[in-house]
Amino acid sequence: MGAGILLFPSVNPVTIQNRSTGLRPLIITSHTNETGHKAMALRWEVLTKGGSAVDAVERAANTIELDPEDTSVGYGGLPNENGVVQLDASFMDGKTYSAGAVACLERIKTPASVARLVMQHTDHVLLTGQGALDFAKAWGFREEDLLTEKARKIWLRWKEELSPNDDWGEPDHLKNIINKESYRNDFPDIEHHYGTTNILAIDTNGDIAGCTTTSGLSFKINGRVGDSPIIGAGLYVDNEVGAAGATGRGEDVIKSCAAYYMIMRMKEGRTPQQACEDALHMIVEKYSRINPGFFPSEKFVAISSRGEVGCASMKGEKEPQMSVRNEKGFSLYTGTIAYRGK
Ligand code: GLY
Repeated sequence: MGAGILLFPSVNPVTIQNRSTGLRPLIITSHTNETGHKAMALRWEVLTKGGSAVDAVERAANTIELDPEDTSVGYGGLPNENGVVQLDASFMDGKTYSAGAVACLERIKTPASVARLVMQHTDHVLLTGQGALDFAKAWGFREEDLLTEKARKIWLRWKEELSPNDDWGEPDHLKNIINKESYRNDFPDIEHHYGTTNILAIDTNGDIAGCTTTSGLSFKINGRVGDSPIIGAGLYVDNEVGAAGATGRGEDVIKSCAAYYMIMRMKEGRTPQQACEDALHMIVEKYSRINPGFFPSEKFVAISSRGEVGCASMKGEKEPQMSVRNEKGFSLYTGTIAYRGK
């Protein structure tokens, strides 16, 4: 798609016509592993039993957050540079225009639930660090160590090879003799640096909710906040239009307000698939004047209020996928790559 038709969206209210109920309820996650599948299977039941999208989304997020093998989200997530796991999450309810989020939350396994409480029981949108932890404890959340053995080993291995000019790694007299593989080769199953999950759902009433939850950029500087807890960047939900979520390099997603952009594109009539692709092209266009070779690693997912879905990633060899559960059953939806091979 050419940059020329990336017009800024109209601010006039638009009513989406022909709202189909055919594919509602619906729940999706950007996670495509076994836990993503499990989250969809379990939380589909919430929707079919008349539960709300908010409940289904929270519980699906918790399923993924509590998987200790997943190094990108919740318990077991990769830590910051100091070895401390700091979690980010956001929640949005498209029916009530309510949102809540937590950033740099330590020692709580399920940040999505804390974000939901911020949304439903405060007039604030974002709590950070110690304040977010105090809030979670006030609601009875238990403090726990979030650093699993797997994540700790990956972090230590990262420290070892971080710099040839510090004292981590092999002793000086063995440097350049021992040919160590990088920590990525040592841990081939490691999730991408920016791993995150999005969960979006529509319930039987047509109400839409979404959550984005992550341990954020691995080995980040203490205190770094990514896009996931930023409403409009890592997540946006609007009952009249749909929902959108982002994974990938949070810095780009924040600067481009990507999730809000996708919603605005859908409001103008673009499908979720087109909206995901539009957002990726918009980011590349932003960098085209500064560094035309820069294609950051992003993957976007979106759903429309009609129950359509979309998914696109910035680059790579293999098409991105997302897990979808609707009345047709469970499926892996295959999206598109905006810049193949970059
Ligand atoms: N998208 C996750 C992060 O950048 O923290």
